[in-house]
Amino acid sequence: MDIIGFIKQQFEDNGHVAYGEHISMGEHMLQTAYYAEQKNSSDAIITAALLHDFGHLILELPEDITEHGIDGYHEDVGAKFLAPYFPKQIIDGIGLHVQAKRYMCAVKPKYHSQLSQASQDTLAVQGGPMNAQEIAAFEQQAFYKDALQVRLFDDLGKHVELAHPDLAHYLRIAAQFVV
Ligand SMILES: [Fe+2]
Ligand SMILES: [Fe+2]
Repeated sequence: MDIIGFIKQQFEDNGHVAYGEHISMGEHMLQTAYYAEQKNSSDAIITAALLHDFGHLILELPEDITEHGIDGYHEDVGAKFLAPYFPKQIIDGIGLHVQAKRYMCAVKPKYHSQLSQASQDTLAVQGGPMNAQEIAAFEQQAFYKDALQVRLFDDLGKHVELAHPDLAHYLRIAAQFVV
């Protein structure tokens, strides 16, 4: 399968799905990649940032589904789908981005209050802040620091209006990694 073509199609077909913070899912993902690039992240981090909510695109479930007490496990859906096509560093950046929020809430008490309302609301459904055991297990993951980076950009990519490069620009960055 032409995975880059498929990702492009998903952005075009399902990118309009509501993210729940007055912007679309596709726009949120592009803004997350934009912030990764702005902060001089590696191309692998930019790619993980672009694709971190890919599970939402293919599930076509809005982020606010969690308001109804359901977690779509969009991070697992996205990571599993993309695993055959990208290296583990990128897949873990995607698959661990929700865990990264739970980790940050546990280790940085101020972090929780800086989250958007929707992110605070979804935290409980996602398991709340990590306990000590979960923190230790998370830090055993080879790419947990990558996931923490993606998370920080995820938290920034929520602007109603923000000028940034188009999808084609970020797909060119992602295409370098296709295995
Ligand atoms: Fe997410
Ligand atoms: Fe996100």
